[in-house]
Amino acid sequence: MLATTRNSAGLASDKDTLYRERVNPQWVRLLDVLQMNARYTRCQGTELFTEDGRRILDFLSGYCVHNLGHNHPAVVEAIKDELDRQGPAMLQSHVPQLAGELADKLCWRAGGQIAKAFFCSSGSEGVEAAIKFSRAHTGRSGLLYAEGAFHGLTCGVLSLMGDPFWRERFGPMLSDTEAVPFGNLAALELKLATKRFAAFIVEPVQGEGGVRVPPLAYLESVQALCRRHGTLFVVDEVQTGLHRTGRFLASHLFNIEPDMIVLAKALSGGLIPSAALLMSDEVYQSVYGSIARAIVHTSTYSENGLAMRAGLATLEALEREHLGQRALAAGDYLRTRLREALSGYEMVKEVRGLGLLNGIEFQAPRKLALRVSFEAFGKIHPGMFGQVVVMRLFRHGFLTQMCGNNFMVLKVAPPLVVKEREAEEFVYAVKEVVEMMHSSTTFWSEALGLARRAILK
Ligand SMILES: Cc1ncc(COP(=O)(O)O)c(C=O)c1O
Repeated sequence: MLATTRNSAGLASDKDTLYRERVNPQWVRLLDVLQMNARYTRCQGTELFTEDGRRILDFLSGYCVHNLGHNHPAVVEAIKDELDRQGPAMLQSHVPQLAGELADKLCWRAGGQIAKAFFCSSGSEGVEAAIKFSRAHTGRSGLLYAEGAFHGLTCGVLSLMGDPFWRERFGPMLSDTEAVPFGNLAALELKLATKRFAAFIVEPVQGEGGVRVPPLAYLESVQALCRRHGTLFVVDEVQTGLHRTGRFLASHLFNIEPDMIVLAKALSGGLIPSAALLMSDEVYQSVYGSIARAIVHTSTYSENGLAMRAGLATLEALEREHLGQRALAAGDYLRTRLREALSGYEMVKEVRGLGLLNGIEFQAPRKLALRVSFEAFGKIHPGMFGQVVVMRLFRHGFLTQMCGNNFMVLKVAPPLVVKEREAEEFVYAVKEVVEMMHSSTTFWSEALGLARRAILK
């Protein structure tokens, strides 16, 4: 029996209630426990405005979706225009010209050997396509991935992620997938030399793994090894792409020319789901090489006009507003200011990142008084400490999150339009929270209260 109060028209009186009943009550519980269940009424740029009059600054960007900021007027306009045009949508029987236009722009910008694009609607779908295409191209079944990777949550892609939290109870996974430590060339070469692997799939900077930036030469060497052993080099730029790390692709910073590149998140302009798998002509030919195979891998929503228009408008706006350069400058500024503000705090291990994909890594305290509390929370749930940091920052007016595969790293990834003043406000808030965790019992007692609420409710 559902508990919703319904009015005479049969409508639930509380919109949250419907979500709670029909979608995901546990998610609502979690937001309630964290005191982060705000009702947003308007979102613009970096700013989120709530029903109760608060202004929250977004330093998460929907996990790197909102590179342009929320509701960028050029993207909104392009989508409205596409709707007004009343052109062909989802016909599935025509040549969608806008897809050609967007693919051309993406291929030019990607450069290297990239010559074709397959469009889809999510990062996971893009990685799934990369799995299929690399097997078709090489005739091998093995897939290599990096420890700590996050590539998405569909079953094939999940087979490229080692973290048991995501996998548990969803098995069996794809067979023939193996992990190597991120950054370790010797381990990679050992696997590649077996000539069993179709692809090595890797993020240039591991986002959810803890914003792990590899040494500059690592990816170039990976590319050379992959080529030597006939394994395709697939780069997941779902978070790092579209100027998040400064250049159009992080691959450009690392001087690599992958066989396939996955883009998603920011390609949507923050509004219409969209993703792309970019590939070389050779890979394309192996998959689609005859009329009979023209639609051998496709998806109903791929190439849809709204997503294509959103993508085109996004590329234009990113360039018109020089957001790549802004990401580099703002990222440098933010990391410098955070390092200055947080130096000397024993629980802050490192501030690192590239462009506006940054992380603050925390570590266990050495001081006994703090360590006892810290360890107590760790026993309740390894993510508890991080969630209290996120909750506290939210109270200061900042939306953030810890990395999905590393609960000790706070993601710092605002939209690329973030202003210096907003970065300063963030540094001030983080310092306050860090100061509090080192000096006040409130931080820790509140965390305990949170744990109790989460467990007992
Ligand atoms: C690096 C990376 N790849 C792939 C994905 C999966 O994207 P999606 O959630 O759109 O399926 C994510 C999602 O966070 C990601 O961070």
